[in-house]
Amino acid sequence: MNIGLLGFGVVGGGVWELAAERDDICVKRVLLRSPKAGLPESAVTFDVNDILNDDTIDTVVEVMGGLHPAYEYVTAAMERGKHVVTANKALIAAYYTELTALAAKQGVALRCTAAVGGGIPWLVNLERVKRLDTVCAVGGIMNGTTNFIMDAMHKADVDFPAILKEAQALGYAEADPSADIDGDDIRRKLCISANIAFDAALEEKAIPTFGIRTVTAADIAAFKSHGFACKLLARAESAQDGVCAYVEPALVGADDLEAAVPANFNLITYEAEKLGRQSFYGQGAGRFPTASNVVQDCLTVLSGKRGFYTDKAAPAALVGGEAHPYYVRTASPDDFLLAHTAETWENGAVVTGAVDVCEMLAWAKAQRDKDPAVFIAGIR
Ligand code: HSE
Repeated sequence: MNIGLLGFGVVGGGVWELAAERDDICVKRVLLRSPKAGLPESAVTFDVNDILNDDTIDTVVEVMGGLHPAYEYVTAAMERGKHVVTANKALIAAYYTELTALAAKQGVALRCTAAVGGGIPWLVNLERVKRLDTVCAVGGIMNGTTNFIMDAMHKADVDFPAILKEAQALGYAEADPSADIDGDDIRRKLCISANIAFDAALEEKAIPTFGIRTVTAADIAAFKSHGFACKLLARAESAQDGVCAYVEPALVGADDLEAAVPANFNLITYEAEKLGRQSFYGQGAGRFPTASNVVQDCLTVLSGKRGFYTDKAAPAALVGGEAHPYYVRTASPDDFLLAHTAETWENGAVVTGAVDVCEMLAWAKAQRDKDPAVFIAGIR
Protein backbone atom coordinates (compact mmCIF):
# COMPACT_ATOMS: atom_id res chain seq x y z
CA MET A 1 0.00 0.00 0.00
CA ASN A 2 1.34 3.43 -0.96
CA ILE A 3 -0.02 6.23 1.19
CA GLY A 4 -0.35 9.94 0.57
CA LEU A 5 -0.41 11.51 4.04
CA LEU A 6 -2.28 14.80 4.35
CA GLY A 7 -0.96 16.54 7.46
CA PHE A 8 2.08 15.99 9.65
CA GLY A 9 0.98 17.17 13.09
CA VAL A 10 0.85 15.07 16.25
CA VAL A 11 -1.16 12.24 14.66
CA GLY A 12 0.48 12.47 11.22
CA GLY A 13 3.92 12.14 12.81
CA GLY A 14 2.68 9.05 14.68
CA VAL A 15 1.36 7.50 11.46
CA TRP A 16 4.72 8.15 9.77
CA GLU A 17 6.59 6.42 12.60
CA LEU A 18 4.26 3.40 12.79
CA ALA A 19 4.29 2.94 9.01
CA ALA A 20 8.11 3.18 8.91
CA GLU A 21 8.30 0.01 11.05
CA ARG A 22 6.42 -2.05 8.43
CA ASP A 23 7.13 -3.24 4.94
CA ASP A 24 3.52 -3.70 3.78
CA ILE A 25 2.58 -0.01 3.93
CA CYS A 26 4.67 2.90 2.79
CA VAL A 27 4.02 6.63 3.24
CA LYS A 28 5.14 7.83 -0.18
CA ARG A 29 4.31 11.54 0.01
CA VAL A 30 3.41 13.90 2.85
CA LEU A 31 1.45 17.07 2.20
CA LEU A 32 2.69 19.96 4.36
CA ARG A 33 1.47 23.53 4.71
CA SER A 34 4.93 24.77 5.67
CA PRO A 35 8.38 23.15 5.88
CA LYS A 36 8.93 20.74 8.77
CA ALA A 37 11.99 18.90 9.99
CA GLY A 38 12.16 15.12 10.22
CA LEU A 39 11.04 14.10 6.73
CA PRO A 40 13.12 13.16 3.67
CA GLU A 41 12.91 15.90 1.04
CA SER A 42 11.69 13.43 -1.59
CA ALA A 43 8.59 12.63 0.50
CA VAL A 44 7.51 16.22 1.08
CA THR A 45 5.11 18.15 -1.12
CA PHE A 46 3.20 21.39 -0.70
CA ASP A 47 0.87 20.59 -3.61
CA VAL A 48 -1.94 18.08 -3.04
CA ASN A 49 -1.99 17.32 -6.78
CA ASP A 50 1.34 15.54 -6.36
CA ILE A 51 -0.63 13.00 -4.31
CA LEU A 52 -3.94 13.06 -6.18
CA ASN A 53 -2.28 12.61 -9.59
CA ASP A 54 0.17 9.93 -8.47
CA ASP A 55 -1.33 6.63 -9.65
CA THR A 56 1.03 4.63 -7.47
CA ILE A 57 -0.63 6.15 -4.36
CA ASP A 58 -3.67 4.00 -3.63
CA THR A 59 -4.64 5.38 -0.21
CA VAL A 60 -4.97 8.90 1.14
CA VAL A 61 -4.65 9.31 4.91
CA GLU A 62 -6.16 12.61 6.01
CA VAL A 63 -5.01 13.86 9.42
CA MET A 64 -4.95 17.58 8.74
CA GLY A 65 -8.26 18.29 10.50
CA GLY A 66 -10.84 20.99 9.80
CA LEU A 67 -13.51 20.94 7.12
CA HIS A 68 -11.70 22.72 4.32
CA PRO A 69 -9.67 21.88 2.36
CA ALA A 70 -9.92 18.38 3.90
CA TYR A 71 -13.33 17.87 2.27
CA GLU A 72 -12.08 18.88 -1.20
CA TYR A 73 -8.96 16.67 -0.90
CA VAL A 74 -10.82 13.61 0.39
CA THR A 75 -13.56 13.78 -2.25
CA ALA A 76 -10.98 14.34 -5.01
CA ALA A 77 -9.04 11.31 -3.78
CA MET A 78 -12.13 9.06 -3.83
CA GLU A 79 -13.15 10.40 -7.25
CA ARG A 80 -9.74 9.25 -8.51
CA GLY A 81 -10.36 5.77 -7.06
CA LYS A 82 -8.16 6.12 -3.98
CA HIS A 83 -9.12 4.74 -0.58
CA VAL A 84 -9.45 7.23 2.27
CA VAL A 85 -8.55 6.80 5.93
CA THR A 86 -9.23 9.80 8.14
CA ALA A 87 -9.18 10.77 11.80
CA ASN A 88 -11.30 13.84 11.07
CA LYS A 89 -14.61 13.59 12.99
CA ALA A 90 -15.74 17.07 11.98
CA LEU A 91 -15.42 16.12 8.32
CA ILE A 92 -17.22 12.77 8.60
CA ALA A 93 -20.03 14.14 10.78
CA ALA A 94 -20.65 17.16 8.54
CA TYR A 95 -20.53 15.33 5.17
CA TYR A 96 -21.63 11.88 6.33
CA THR A 97 -24.19 11.02 3.63
CA GLU A 98 -22.18 12.47 0.79
CA LEU A 99 -18.84 10.89 1.71
CA THR A 100 -20.24 7.44 2.48
CA ALA A 101 -22.25 7.48 -0.78
CA LEU A 102 -19.18 8.55 -2.75
CA ALA A 103 -17.11 5.71 -1.28
CA ALA A 104 -19.84 3.22 -2.26
CA LYS A 105 -20.15 4.68 -5.78
CA GLN A 106 -16.40 4.60 -6.36
CA GLY A 107 -15.96 1.14 -4.81
CA VAL A 108 -13.25 2.48 -2.49
CA ALA A 109 -12.78 2.19 1.27
CA LEU A 110 -13.64 5.03 3.63
CA ARG A 111 -12.48 4.40 7.21
CA CYS A 112 -12.50 6.73 10.23
CA THR A 113 -11.96 4.53 13.30
CA ALA A 114 -9.63 7.09 14.93
CA ALA A 115 -12.29 9.80 14.59
CA VAL A 116 -14.36 8.36 17.44
CA GLY A 117 -12.44 7.35 20.54
CA GLY A 118 -8.90 8.03 19.28
CA GLY A 119 -7.12 4.72 19.92
CA ILE A 120 -10.16 2.72 21.02
CA PRO A 121 -11.36 0.10 18.50
CA TRP A 122 -14.92 1.35 18.94
CA LEU A 123 -16.29 1.77 15.42
CA VAL A 124 -14.85 -1.54 14.23
CA ASN A 125 -16.61 -3.36 17.07
CA LEU A 126 -19.80 -1.42 16.47
CA GLU A 127 -19.66 -2.63 12.87
CA ARG A 128 -18.89 -6.16 14.05
CA VAL A 129 -21.71 -6.48 16.60
CA LYS A 130 -24.24 -5.51 13.91
CA ARG A 131 -23.43 -8.69 11.96
CA LEU A 132 -25.23 -10.78 14.60
CA ASP A 133 -27.28 -8.44 16.74
CA THR A 134 -29.35 -5.27 16.83
CA VAL A 135 -27.83 -2.28 18.56
CA CYS A 136 -30.37 -0.46 20.76
CA ALA A 137 -28.19 2.33 22.18
CA VAL A 138 -24.71 3.87 21.94
CA GLY A 139 -22.89 6.53 23.95
CA GLY A 140 -20.83 7.20 27.04
CA ILE A 141 -17.74 9.22 27.84
CA MET A 142 -16.45 10.21 24.41
CA ASN A 143 -14.41 13.31 25.21
CA GLY A 144 -11.19 13.13 27.19
CA THR A 145 -10.81 16.83 27.93
CA THR A 146 -14.16 17.14 29.68
CA ASN A 147 -13.60 13.90 31.57
CA PHE A 148 -10.24 15.22 32.74
CA ILE A 149 -11.91 18.41 33.99
CA MET A 150 -14.81 16.64 35.72
CA ASP A 151 -12.54 14.02 37.27
CA ALA A 152 -10.19 16.70 38.65
CA MET A 153 -13.13 18.68 40.03
CA HIS A 154 -14.36 15.58 41.89
CA LYS A 155 -10.91 14.84 43.34
CA ALA A 156 -10.11 18.33 44.63
CA ASP A 157 -12.00 21.52 45.38
CA VAL A 158 -10.94 23.31 42.20
CA ASP A 159 -12.95 25.65 40.03
CA PHE A 160 -13.59 25.15 36.35
CA PRO A 161 -11.36 27.96 34.92
CA ALA A 162 -8.29 26.75 36.88
CA ILE A 163 -8.65 23.13 35.80
CA LEU A 164 -9.37 24.11 32.20
CA LYS A 165 -6.04 25.97 32.17
CA GLU A 166 -4.32 22.82 33.45
CA ALA A 167 -6.00 20.72 30.74
CA GLN A 168 -4.71 23.20 28.15
CA ALA A 169 -1.19 23.12 29.62
CA LEU A 170 -1.21 19.30 29.41
CA GLY A 171 -2.25 19.51 25.77
CA TYR A 172 -5.66 17.84 26.27
CA ALA A 173 -7.85 20.85 25.55
CA GLU A 174 -7.45 22.96 22.45
CA ALA A 175 -6.29 26.60 22.70
CA ASP A 176 -9.95 27.37 21.93
CA PRO A 177 -11.56 24.77 24.17
CA SER A 178 -15.18 25.47 23.20
CA ALA A 179 -15.55 22.38 20.97
CA ASP A 180 -14.69 20.21 23.97
CA ILE A 181 -16.43 22.01 26.84
CA ASP A 182 -19.57 23.02 24.93
CA GLY A 183 -20.05 19.47 23.65
CA ASP A 184 -19.50 19.89 19.88
CA ASP A 185 -16.68 17.32 19.81
CA ILE A 186 -18.63 14.64 21.67
CA ARG A 187 -21.75 15.42 19.61
CA ARG A 188 -19.83 14.72 16.39
CA LYS A 189 -18.61 11.39 17.79
CA LEU A 190 -22.12 10.50 18.90
CA CYS A 191 -23.55 11.46 15.51
CA ILE A 192 -21.10 9.21 13.62
CA SER A 193 -21.64 6.34 16.08
CA ALA A 194 -25.44 6.62 15.98
CA ASN A 195 -25.46 6.78 12.19
CA ILE A 196 -23.44 3.59 11.97
CA ALA A 197 -25.38 1.86 14.77
CA PHE A 198 -28.82 2.66 13.35
CA ASP A 199 -28.04 2.95 9.60
CA ALA A 200 -29.18 6.54 9.94
CA ALA A 201 -28.18 9.96 8.61
CA LEU A 202 -28.62 12.29 11.57
CA GLU A 203 -27.90 15.97 11.26
CA GLU A 204 -25.04 16.61 13.70
CA LYS A 205 -26.05 20.10 14.73
CA ALA A 206 -29.65 19.09 15.42
CA ILE A 207 -28.63 16.81 18.31
CA PRO A 208 -29.59 18.60 21.57
CA THR A 209 -26.43 19.37 23.51
CA PHE A 210 -25.45 21.05 26.78
CA GLY A 211 -21.80 21.26 27.84
CA ILE A 212 -19.93 21.69 31.11
CA ARG A 213 -18.76 25.31 30.76
CA THR A 214 -20.88 26.50 33.71
CA VAL A 215 -20.30 23.74 36.25
CA THR A 216 -18.93 25.00 39.59
CA ALA A 217 -17.08 23.50 42.54
CA ALA A 218 -20.26 24.04 44.60
CA ASP A 219 -22.28 21.94 42.09
CA ILE A 220 -19.76 19.11 42.38
CA ALA A 221 -19.81 19.27 46.19
CA ALA A 222 -23.62 18.99 46.08
CA PHE A 223 -23.47 15.99 43.69
CA LYS A 224 -20.98 14.20 45.91
CA SER A 225 -23.01 14.80 49.05
CA HIS A 226 -26.01 13.17 47.32
CA GLY A 227 -23.96 10.12 46.21
CA PHE A 228 -23.53 11.15 42.55
CA ALA A 229 -20.65 11.79 40.16
CA CYS A 230 -21.12 14.11 37.20
CA LYS A 231 -19.82 13.25 33.71
CA LEU A 232 -20.44 14.70 30.25
CA LEU A 233 -22.26 11.84 28.55
CA ALA A 234 -23.54 11.21 25.05
CA ARG A 235 -26.45 8.89 24.33
CA ALA A 236 -28.38 7.80 21.28
CA GLU A 237 -31.06 5.15 21.29
CA SER A 238 -33.23 3.65 18.66
CA ALA A 239 -36.83 4.84 19.07
CA GLN A 240 -40.13 3.99 17.42
CA ASP A 241 -40.10 6.85 14.91
CA GLY A 242 -36.42 7.71 14.71
CA VAL A 243 -33.45 8.18 17.02
CA CYS A 244 -33.39 9.85 20.44
CA ALA A 245 -29.90 11.40 20.73
CA TYR A 246 -28.48 13.97 23.12
CA VAL A 247 -25.39 15.17 24.95
CA GLU A 248 -25.64 16.44 28.52
CA PRO A 249 -23.85 16.48 31.86
CA ALA A 250 -25.25 13.49 33.71
CA LEU A 251 -25.33 12.42 37.34
CA VAL A 252 -24.44 8.77 37.70
CA GLY A 253 -24.18 6.70 40.86
CA ALA A 254 -20.77 7.06 42.53
CA ASP A 255 -20.16 3.32 41.97
CA ASP A 256 -21.20 3.26 38.28
CA LEU A 257 -18.55 2.33 35.68
CA GLU A 258 -18.65 5.86 34.25
CA ALA A 259 -17.93 7.40 37.65
CA ALA A 260 -14.68 5.43 37.83
CA VAL A 261 -13.26 6.70 34.53
CA PRO A 262 -10.20 8.81 35.44
CA ALA A 263 -8.27 11.65 33.80
CA ASN A 264 -8.71 11.97 30.04
CA PHE A 265 -9.88 8.40 29.39
CA ASN A 266 -13.01 7.48 27.41
CA LEU A 267 -15.59 4.77 28.12
CA ILE A 268 -17.79 4.10 25.10
CA THR A 269 -20.68 1.68 25.22
CA TYR A 270 -23.23 -0.06 23.07
CA GLU A 271 -26.25 -1.99 24.22
CA ALA A 272 -27.38 -4.74 21.86
CA GLU A 273 -30.55 -6.81 22.01
CA LYS A 274 -28.92 -10.21 22.60
CA LEU A 275 -25.41 -9.31 23.73
CA GLY A 276 -26.40 -6.66 26.26
CA ARG A 277 -23.87 -4.01 27.24
CA GLN A 278 -20.27 -3.89 26.06
CA SER A 279 -18.01 -0.96 26.96
CA PHE A 280 -14.69 0.09 25.47
CA TYR A 281 -12.22 1.91 27.69
CA GLY A 282 -9.01 3.66 26.72
CA GLN A 283 -7.25 6.73 25.42
CA GLY A 284 -9.55 8.76 23.20
CA ALA A 285 -6.77 10.99 21.89
CA GLY A 286 -3.00 11.32 21.69
CA ARG A 287 -0.26 10.63 19.16
CA PHE A 288 0.17 6.86 19.22
CA PRO A 289 -3.35 5.82 20.31
CA THR A 290 -4.89 7.80 17.45
CA ALA A 291 -2.16 6.92 14.93
CA SER A 292 -2.60 3.21 15.79
CA ASN A 293 -6.23 3.27 14.78
CA VAL A 294 -5.33 5.14 11.58
CA VAL A 295 -2.74 2.52 10.68
CA GLN A 296 -5.12 -0.30 11.70
CA ASP A 297 -7.62 1.16 9.22
CA CYS A 298 -4.93 1.11 6.54
CA LEU A 299 -4.27 -2.57 7.28
CA THR A 300 -8.01 -3.27 7.04
CA VAL A 301 -8.08 -1.61 3.62
CA LEU A 302 -4.98 -3.59 2.65
CA SER A 303 -6.85 -6.79 3.56
CA GLY A 304 -9.45 -5.94 0.91
CA LYS A 305 -12.25 -4.27 2.88
CA ARG A 306 -14.13 -1.64 0.88
CA GLY A 307 -16.89 0.88 1.59
CA PHE A 308 -17.80 2.31 5.01
CA TYR A 309 -18.87 0.65 8.29
CA THR A 310 -22.44 0.48 6.99
CA ASP A 311 -23.84 0.80 3.50
CA LYS A 312 -27.12 2.38 4.64
CA ALA A 313 -27.70 6.01 5.62
CA ALA A 314 -31.45 6.60 5.79
CA PRO A 315 -32.72 9.99 6.93
CA ALA A 316 -33.87 9.56 10.55
CA ALA A 317 -35.93 11.91 12.68
CA LEU A 318 -34.47 13.08 15.97
CA VAL A 319 -37.19 12.31 18.45
CA GLY A 320 -37.70 12.62 22.19
CA GLY A 321 -38.77 9.58 24.12
CA GLU A 322 -36.28 9.41 26.97
CA ALA A 323 -37.34 11.25 30.14
CA HIS A 324 -35.52 11.53 33.46
CA PRO A 325 -35.14 13.91 36.41
CA TYR A 326 -32.75 16.85 36.17
CA TYR A 327 -30.57 18.84 38.55
CA VAL A 328 -31.03 22.50 37.62
CA ARG A 329 -29.17 25.46 39.10
CA THR A 330 -30.32 28.82 37.84
CA ALA A 331 -30.67 32.30 39.27
CA SER A 332 -33.85 32.83 37.18
CA PRO A 333 -36.34 30.03 37.79
CA ASP A 334 -39.42 30.33 35.57
CA ASP A 335 -42.85 28.72 35.30
CA PHE A 336 -41.52 25.72 33.34
CA LEU A 337 -38.99 24.94 36.05
CA LEU A 338 -41.40 25.55 38.92
CA ALA A 339 -43.95 23.26 37.28
CA HIS A 340 -41.40 20.43 37.12
CA THR A 341 -39.63 20.96 40.45
CA ALA A 342 -39.79 17.97 42.78
CA GLU A 343 -37.28 18.98 45.45
CA THR A 344 -34.86 21.75 46.33
CA TRP A 345 -31.29 21.01 47.40
CA GLU A 346 -29.37 22.80 50.14
CA ASN A 347 -27.37 24.83 47.58
CA GLY A 348 -30.58 26.28 46.11
CA ALA A 349 -30.55 24.04 43.01
CA VAL A 350 -33.66 22.02 42.23
CA VAL A 351 -34.31 18.47 41.12
CA THR A 352 -37.19 17.96 38.71
CA GLY A 353 -39.45 15.01 38.12
CA ALA A 354 -38.95 13.10 34.86
CA VAL A 355 -38.76 15.54 31.93
CA ASP A 356 -38.35 14.65 28.24
CA VAL A 357 -34.69 15.22 27.33
CA CYS A 358 -35.47 17.24 24.19
CA GLU A 359 -37.82 19.49 26.13
CA MET A 360 -35.29 20.01 28.93
CA LEU A 361 -32.32 20.64 26.68
CA ALA A 362 -34.34 23.15 24.63
CA TRP A 363 -35.31 24.90 27.87
CA ALA A 364 -31.69 24.97 29.08
CA LYS A 365 -30.49 26.42 25.77
CA ALA A 366 -33.06 29.22 25.93
CA GLN A 367 -32.41 29.77 29.63
CA ARG A 368 -28.79 30.71 28.88
CA ASP A 369 -30.05 34.04 27.48
CA LYS A 370 -31.64 34.85 30.84
CA ASP A 371 -28.98 33.25 33.03
CA PRO A 372 -25.64 32.55 31.30
CA ALA A 373 -24.45 30.65 34.40
CA VAL A 374 -27.30 28.09 34.34
CA PHE A 375 -26.16 24.48 34.79
CA ILE A 376 -28.20 21.34 34.32
CA ALA A 377 -27.43 17.64 34.66
CA GLY A 378 -29.65 14.69 33.81
CA ILE A 379 -30.05 12.14 36.59
CA ARG A 380 -29.72 8.64 35.12
N1 HSE B 1 -10.40 16.94 22.14
C1 HSE B 1 -10.75 15.56 22.06
C2 HSE B 1 -10.94 14.99 23.45
C3 HSE B 1 -9.68 14.76 21.40
O1 HSE B 1 -10.62 15.66 24.42
O2 HSE B 1 -11.43 13.87 23.56
C4 HSE B 1 -9.96 14.20 20.09
O3 HSE B 1 -11.29 14.00 19.80
